[in-house]
Amino acid sequence: MGTGGRAEATRLLVTGAAGFIGSSFVRLALREPAPVSALVLDALTYAGNLENLAPVADLPGYAFHRGDICSEEDVRAGFDRAEAAFGGPVDAVVHFAAESHVDRSIEDPAGFLRTNVLGTEVLLRVARERGVSRFLHVSTDEVYGTLGPDDPPFSETTPIAPNSPYAASKAASDLVVRAYQETYGFPALVTRCSNNYGPYQFPEKLIPLMIANALEDRPLPVYGDGRNVRDWIHVDDHSRGILAVLRAGEPGGIYNLGGSAERANIDVVRTLLRLLGKPESLIQYVPDRPGHDRRYAIDSSKARRELAWTPEWTFERGLEATVAWYRGNAAWVASVRSGAYRDYYERMYGEREAWMRRV
Ligand code: NAD
Ligand code: DAU
Repeated sequence: MGTGGRAEATRLLVTGAAGFIGSSFVRLALREPAPVSALVLDALTYAGNLENLAPVADLPGYAFHRGDICSEEDVRAGFDRAEAAFGGPVDAVVHFAAESHVDRSIEDPAGFLRTNVLGTEVLLRVARERGVSRFLHVSTDEVYGTLGPDDPPFSETTPIAPNSPYAASKAASDLVVRAYQETYGFPALVTRCSNNYGPYQFPEKLIPLMIANALEDRPLPVYGDGRNVRDWIHVDDHSRGILAVLRAGEPGGIYNLGGSAERANIDVVRTLLRLLGKPESLIQYVPDRPGHDRRYAIDSSKARRELAWTPEWTFERGLEATVAWYRGNAAWVASVRSGAYRDYYERMYGEREAWMRRV
C-alpha cells in the first residue's frame, strides 16, 4: 500500500471510530509495528465519544474529521483532510459507522436505513471515485437471522434472513457493497462478527448496562426468559480480525469473525453479578424484545484457516477484565450516562474548528 507522511504508512479512512469497536480498531492499528495512519470520520452521534480515542489522539498518524457518512460533501471533506494530513491519497476505508443498537431500531427504523444503507452507498461512491485499493465493510452475524438450539453455526454461505430493522439495514448495506463489487469490480471485503464486549462499550448494550446498573444496585432488566443465546467475542479480538482481513483478505470475500463463546443471557448476567459481588435479587425479568432472535452462533473457521487469525481472549478472562475496566473507569461511565461526554468535542476541537472555518 501507499507511502504516507511517515515512511510506508498505510493511509486509512476509518468511519465511526469514535464508537466502541472502531475506537478499539484505531487504538490497535496505530500501535502496530507496520506503520498506519488513520483519519477518523465520525458524526459524533449519541454513540460517538472522542474520549474513546484519547489514548491515541496525540500520535502523529491520527487525525479526526467530524462528518456524516450520508453527506457526500462531508465524506469528500474527510478524504481531503486525510490526504492533507498524511501527504497522499487514502489507501483503504474501514467502515464501522452505523446505528448499532437493535432496541433503538425497533423505535426508529428510518434512522437506521438512512445511516446504514444510504450512508454506506455514499461512502462507497466517494471511495470509488478516489480509487481506494480496499474497502472493508464491518457487518454483523445478525444478517443471517436466528438459529434453533441444534442448528449448525452461521457460515459465510448461510442465506441472509434478517429479522430486526437493524439487521435488515445491515443486510441491505451488505448487498449494496456486493453490488459495487459485482458491477464496478470495486475491491470491497465484508466481515460479519458476533456480539462484542469489552472496554468503552456504550452502556445500552447487555454487558455494560448490567455492569453499570449492578454497580449502582439498580435492577438488571433481562428480556423474556433470559435463555436467548449470543456468541461473544472480545472487541480487541474483533479488531485484530479486521486488521487481518484488511491485510490479507481476498477482495470480494466475506469473513465471519467470532469468539466461539455461546452463552445464554441469564448465565452472562449471573456471572457478572458474581464477579461484582452483587446479589441475584437485582435480576428483573421484563417483557421480551419484539422479534427477539433466539440464538446466534458463528463459524469463523474460514478467517482462522486463511488468515491465521485466532481470538486471544477466553470469554471468562475477557469478562473479568471488562468488569475490572468498568470498575476502574467510573468517570467514563458517569460521563456517558450523564451526557457530559458530548462536551469533549468542543473542548478538544471546538476552538480549532472555529479557527479553521475563519481561514
Ligand atoms: P457504536 O454505536 O458504538 O458506534 C457507532 C459509531 O458510528 C459512533 O461513533 C457514531 O457517532 C458513528 N456514526 C453513527 N452514524 C453516523 C453517521 N451518519 N456518519 C458518521 N458516523 C456515524 O457501534 P459499534 O458497536 O462500535 O459497532 C460498529 C460497527 O460494527 C457497526 O457497523 C455495527 O453494525 C458492527 N458490529 C457491531 C457488533 C457489536 O457487537 N457491537 C458486532 C458486529 C458488528
Ligand atoms: O450479533 C452482533 C450484534 O450484537 C451487533 O450487530 C449489534 O450491533 C449489537 O448491538 C449486538 O446486538 P444484540 O441485540 O445481540 O445485543 P444487545 O446487547 O442489545 O443484547 C444482547 C442480548 O441481551 C439480547 O438477547 C437481548 C438481551 N438484553 C439486552 C439488553 C440491552 C436483555 O436481556 N436486556 C437488556 O437490557
